[in-house]
Amino acid sequence: MKRTTYLLLLVVLLVSCAPKSRSAPYKDPSQPVDVRVEDLLSRMTMEEKIGQMTQVENNSISPYYLFSPSEIAKYFIGSVLSGGNSSGFYLLADWTGLAKSYEVEAVKTRLGIPLIFGVDSVHGFGHVNGATIFPQNIGLGATRDPELVRQIGQVTAEEMRAAGIPWNFAPCVAVPQDIRWGRTYEGFSEDTALVTELSSAYIQGFQTVPKGYGSSDGQTLYALATPKHYIGDGGTAWGSIHQYMYHQYMLDTGDTQVDEATLRRLFLPPYQAAVNSGAMSVMVSFSSWNGVKMHAQRYLLTDVLKGELGFQGFVVSDWGGINQVDPDYYKAVVTAINAGIDMNMVPYYYQMFIDTMKQAVMNGDITQERIDDAVRRILRAKFMLGLFENPYGDSRLAMTVGSDEHRALARQAVRKSLVLLKNDNNALPIDKNVSTILVAGINSTGVQAGGWTLDWQGEQRNTLVGTTILEGIQELVGPNTQVLYNNLGQFASFSGKAPVGIAIVGEVPYAEGMGDRADLTLYKVDLTVINALRPKVDKLIVVILSGRPLVITDQYQTADAWVATWLPGSEGAGVADVLFGDYPFVGKLPYTWPRSNDQLPLNINNSANLTGCAAPLFPFGYGLGSAGSQPIEWLNCQ
Ligand code: BGC
Ligand code: BGC
Repeated sequence: MKRTTYLLLLVVLLVSCAPKSRSAPYKDPSQPVDVRVEDLLSRMTMEEKIGQMTQVENNSISPYYLFSPSEIAKYFIGSVLSGGNSSGFYLLADWTGLAKSYEVEAVKTRLGIPLIFGVDSVHGFGHVNGATIFPQNIGLGATRDPELVRQIGQVTAEEMRAAGIPWNFAPCVAVPQDIRWGRTYEGFSEDTALVTELSSAYIQGFQTVPKGYGSSDGQTLYALATPKHYIGDGGTAWGSIHQYMYHQYMLDTGDTQVDEATLRRLFLPPYQAAVNSGAMSVMVSFSSWNGVKMHAQRYLLTDVLKGELGFQGFVVSDWGGINQVDPDYYKAVVTAINAGIDMNMVPYYYQMFIDTMKQAVMNGDITQERIDDAVRRILRAKFMLGLFENPYGDSRLAMTVGSDEHRALARQAVRKSLVLLKNDNNALPIDKNVSTILVAGINSTGVQAGGWTLDWQGEQRNTLVGTTILEGIQELVGPNTQVLYNNLGQFASFSGKAPVGIAIVGEVPYAEGMGDRADLTLYKVDLTVINALRPKVDKLIVVILSGRPLVITDQYQTADAWVATWLPGSEGAGVADVLFGDYPFVGKLPYTWPRSNDQLPLNINNSANLTGCAAPLFPFGYGLGSAGSQPIEWLNCQ
């Protein structure tokens, strides 16, 4: 052998035996999360840290719009969110592409820290038309079924993960005490214990890594849930007014005027359970507690949540919530960050936030320790999510989005959420072979789904992929049954009387304070529908689609049966399943049902001793068909 060949062999041998150049500990998934966090933190500049604390809204920075994606890298942006509006993006591929376009920029940065993309999938991945849309939380509250809710959490995580979106601003763990609030349907119930049980089941389902998935790379969080809005969002006083653009919100984002013991008793248990269930992000409420904005409440955010409850995750502000703390932006930022907010949902003017933060750190108004604590918490969640190893979506999951299996779960949830309020003359269940059924009123998947579906305020048109209640009825009836439909109940060409009529009435979609409403009686158009149908049918069944109990006292006697279906989502056929008796009514009221507007606010915490005409129309927990419940005794209280 030639000498040169010997030399070459020697070099090859030496190189292969030399110790491997070890990569940074933070890049090593076999290291404990805390080791990775500390290692990464020690490498970061102040600018990189402030970037992690900044969450920008998609339309303000999107690569698809005016701004350049390089802003992500330039400012080391730690998170992007899409608000309620889908901005015309309704396909899974759109969302997968959007999330990836940001992530690509983030992982290019010096330290390659992935960003985290978040959306509100409050009842399924509502931005995507074709995703599985579950009943809104109020309906899940009626099911009283934590195992079902756990599965819904898991399916929602799977559908979001398919698009590479690991962060959900849900579950809403509000305990609404006044159903005039536009977010009543986002709460499982007015009962603290029920909210606590169901929301922690949701978090466990949403966050638990399914067996055999990702475990090899140390991922311990499947996706990130966000119990919100901390704390007391459901306890605001009517008229503690908040101005939102041209709208005056009467309850939403208002003031919760209770002593600390009441605040803790009514609203804290869901957060303690959430922390115990492994929640790693919590969103702050827009509302105030006794006149002080929650975004400024250091005691509640830092001492109680992070200290007493032992919360290890990060606190995210609500949409521009920090700006509301003080008219002076510098003061607002300093107060809120020092109160304990770790990530700011800015959402628009991120450079201004970043500059303000730098200034505050330079001035010593925000300490290095506070910044490190915030960044540590954010990085911890990102490591647990496995984002450093797999920052993009999981295309294997795309097949599951809106799959038959997922829709079957949603349909089951719909069936279990229905509450039978009245059933005289054996109006229910309906015989599938009856000659004629006249159906009137709402026939729209959009209305069934309510707010936070396709758009912030929801979609009234029948464009959401799924089945309407009418379609469910048509699917189930016998071959000789004719089903006639008219939205206003006009059946001029039908002579005589049909054995059965179904009026589908309720609320148009809304979200947040846009749905604050003092008058909860049925809309005029619904009265028209009911009155038009009544003389045309032997038995009249009224089906209510709404985000809360409505005042139906004046119409109660007009119909033989009343069914509350809440906001069932994409699988309207689940309502028909129960109307025809294929499944029983098992739902129980998650909220007290008032007799009149004048009684409001009315809930289990203030109605216990009310009797006769002062009592609710239906008490909390009421529901025919469920064991032990009796039809109410009708009281004429005019
Ligand atoms: C956004 C929502 C947000 C709301 C805040 C809307 O434009 O789409 O996500 O909650 O503004 O008021
Ligand atoms: C809402 C939050 C929501 C956020 C982002 C806010 O207006 O209060 O519930 O998560 O917008 O859409």
